[in-house]
Amino acid sequence: MQKNQKEEDLYRKQVTEAAGYVKKSLGSGVQTAVITGTGLSGSLMNLEVDSQVDYAQIPNFPLSTVQSHAGRLISGRVCGRRVLVMQGRFHLYEGYSAPMVAFPVRLMQVLGVKNLVVTNAAGGLCRDYAAGDIMAICDHINLTGENPLVGTNFDDWGIRFPDMSAAYDHGFIECGFRAAQKAGIVLQKGVYAGLKGPSLETPAELRYLRQIGADAVGLSTVMEVIAAVHGQMRVCGFAMITNIADPDHPEPATIEAIIGAAEKSAPKLGQLISNFVREI
Ligand code: HPA
Repeated sequence: MQKNQKEEDLYRKQVTEAAGYVKKSLGSGVQTAVITGTGLSGSLMNLEVDSQVDYAQIPNFPLSTVQSHAGRLISGRVCGRRVLVMQGRFHLYEGYSAPMVAFPVRLMQVLGVKNLVVTNAAGGLCRDYAAGDIMAICDHINLTGENPLVGTNFDDWGIRFPDMSAAYDHGFIECGFRAAQKAGIVLQKGVYAGLKGPSLETPAELRYLRQIGADAVGLSTVMEVIAAVHGQMRVCGFAMITNIADPDHPEPATIEAIIGAAEKSAPKLGQLISNFVREI
């Protein structure tokens, strides 16, 4: 038996128990889930809430240590479509392990969720981007040095070496563009680089990120997406560009400014997600 087998079996048991609680509290059968990122928990303005639970009520569920994250799981409707909304997520920089960051995605998988919409706040690296833009994530670069699939593979959750050649579903990206067009929103498309943080990037790091093909940078998303792809979910990602990360004109970045910018643009993202949910 592998050294960590016991720990991994416990993780699986904890996910199953948490999913059982959520099923009892919120019901099951929801096909689409949305994870809202930093400053974006209020983005779904037209969400009709059917029922909700605080993360603290869910057995074994991690607790958000980040102020800007609400910590609530909501079952509701957007444009008449049922959605499960996770207001507040977990990050490696909070000290959570990769499997714990992916815990909610595993819970969703056990509940039968098939479509995952991930959102985040990100720094814009592409020269064409402006603060306030939304970027459809077409691919990612995992620079965290972590992976939620390390260790024993649970074959009934997914295969040992999941294909990542189309982690962000191509059909969903097209839906995203249709949804944006209908809402009159300009949508960018690019590659998201996921870092561990919590320190933000140096100018040399930003230059490096540009050179390796990243269009936006942030501190979340990649663990969740890897777990979701492993769990055969179709994934769609939207990055809210809260600031321009320009290595040649470095400006001090603060988390307060990032949260403020995300909150300001949250309704636009909410509109996009609502239209998207209607399209899929
Ligand atoms: N860097 C990392 N994460 C971020 C940024 C950034 O510039 N903006 C929003 N999230």
